[in-house]
Amino acid sequence: MSSLFKPKTIKNIILPNGFVRSATWEGMAAENGAVTEALVTRMVELAQGRVGLIVSGHAYVEARGQASPWQLGIHDDTLIEGHRHMVDAVHRAEGKIAIQLAHAGRRAIETLPLENQRRISHMNASAIKEVVDAFGEAAKRAKAAGYDAIQIHAAHGYFLSQTLSPLENQRKDAYGDSLENRMRLLLEVVRRVQSEVGGGFPLLIKLNSADYVEGGFSQEEAAIVAQNLEKSGIHAIELSGGTPESGELVPIRPRIDTLEKESYFREAALGIKKAVSIPIILVGGIRHLEVAEQMVQEGRADLISMSRPLIREPGLIKRWIEGSTDPALCDSCCRCFVPARKGEGIRCMKIKKNA
Ligand SMILES: Cc1cc2nc3c(=O)[nH]c(=O)nc-3n(C[C@H](O)[C@H](O)[C@H](O)COP(=O)(O)O)c2cc1C
Repeated sequence: MSSLFKPKTIKNIILPNGFVRSATWEGMAAENGAVTEALVTRMVELAQGRVGLIVSGHAYVEARGQASPWQLGIHDDTLIEGHRHMVDAVHRAEGKIAIQLAHAGRRAIETLPLENQRRISHMNASAIKEVVDAFGEAAKRAKAAGYDAIQIHAAHGYFLSQTLSPLENQRKDAYGDSLENRMRLLLEVVRRVQSEVGGGFPLLIKLNSADYVEGGFSQEEAAIVAQNLEKSGIHAIELSGGTPESGELVPIRPRIDTLEKESYFREAALGIKKAVSIPIILVGGIRHLEVAEQMVQEGRADLISMSRPLIREPGLIKRWIEGSTDPALCDSCCRCFVPARKGEGIRCMKIKKNA
């Protein structure tokens, strides 16, 4: 039996197995960011499909941090009830669910006036405090809603990833220039979240292994940030990489059709895993159970995370556990974004509607 099918512990939660549904914007929330029944149904399908830990789509912590339409929000107390309803439904299906707390920074939704964007190089001290507070308040709401864990989104060129990047972050004060300064805001967010939920509450982070942009956040820097996150009490790191500006090395790479293309952060993972002792959750183009196992055996990861394969097959993990171990059917065409951009929610275009 695969070691990934055995229970895994992150801080004080025991996951039934080592497979994680990586955060996925479903484009299925209401206009105001509220949970919808369609979203609840999607999460329950994943729980029934025996995903060890579901991470929600990125949820914006303040209105100015919204990235996309129909994105999940956790920026207001009125939204807690909907989240609680979704969490309860997942728990009834014996699943575990984390919420991904996010801020888009300069990648905010295009309807946000430019002057309202949070741009790291141009924020004053009170603007920085507002964002840190927004993460704290959102974490408090997440805990009140009953989530099993929180994941802070610090990857893919969104706000906290922008603060880490020497290209994006042009500040010359305590929040910019040296790596120590560039990671200050992220560590402040971590401390603020911990002060709301308590140090014992499972706290994860999604971090870039590098931005894969010339002169950008590097693998060496990522290893140092990972060590500082561990020291700050983060319980697990999900390792990804890239930003929309990374050319072929973007976070969501298309056409994963050979074994060589699979697990496209495998090289970077080795260095980061060696740098820390908390669990590493590896994401990015993993399609074969054998590749997933290999990542663990080779000391590159402790848990395995997937997004697109679980859009195509929410029951993939159950299928694998039950012994049907053919690779994921997803061919990484990325057309799952097409209906979501029209407000119809993500779905695999290879599966007939209502099939
Ligand atoms: C439709 C879609 C939405 C995504 N939304 C998010 C998100 O909200 N937060 C995030 O951190 N990553 C997001 N991602 C990236 C995935 O979590 C994952 O890092 C990436 O797709 C690579 O994994 P995969 O090859 O298993 O799909 C999204 C990916 C897809 C395809």
